[in-house]
Amino acid sequence: MNVERVERGIYRYLPLEHELLFEHSPDQLESRIVRATLGQRFTGDAAVVFVWTTVPYRMEWRYDLAAHKVIALDAGHVCQNLYLACEAIGAGTCAIAAYDQAGMDHLLGVDGEEEFTIYLAPVGKKG
Ligand SMILES: Cc1cc2nc3c(=O)[nH]c(=O)nc-3n(C[C@H](O)[C@H](O)[C@H](O)COP(=O)(O)O)c2cc1C
Repeated sequence: MNVERVERGIYRYLPLEHELLFEHSPDQLESRIVRATLGQRFTGDAAVVFVWTTVPYRMEWRYDLAAHKVIALDAGHVCQNLYLACEAIGAGTCAIAAYDQAGMDHLLGVDGEEEFTIYLAPVGKKG
């Protein structure tokens, strides 16, 4: 929403390429993020909001029912690393698990079945 050299919008992170893929730039992005996080206003003030989705099949084919535990562990690790990265650049973050599932999935453009949101965290600097 407010990052130098990155146009406002929704991007997908491509881990293998370590690149951002522009997806779309919805109207009223900030207020839609606030709504999708059940009115937590600070999400709309953030410079960027990281939203982690999962594609359960990518774990299930290997780990069967244990997949869901591993997905949750992974999300926790990734978010913890975001906290560390934020600290290193003098920014702040706050893990968020209270959000509207259908609203956030819709905003991102994921189907809510094969891929859905599991965790998010806004990042910003004061002032
Ligand atoms: C799984 C998880 C979900 C959280 N969800 C929210 C949330 O939806 N909204 C929020 O303001 N904080 C959320 N938090 C942040 C906590 O409220 C709290 O700020 C954080 O765990 C640090 O706690 P401490 O400052 O007491 O150490 C969440 C934290 C965790 C670990």
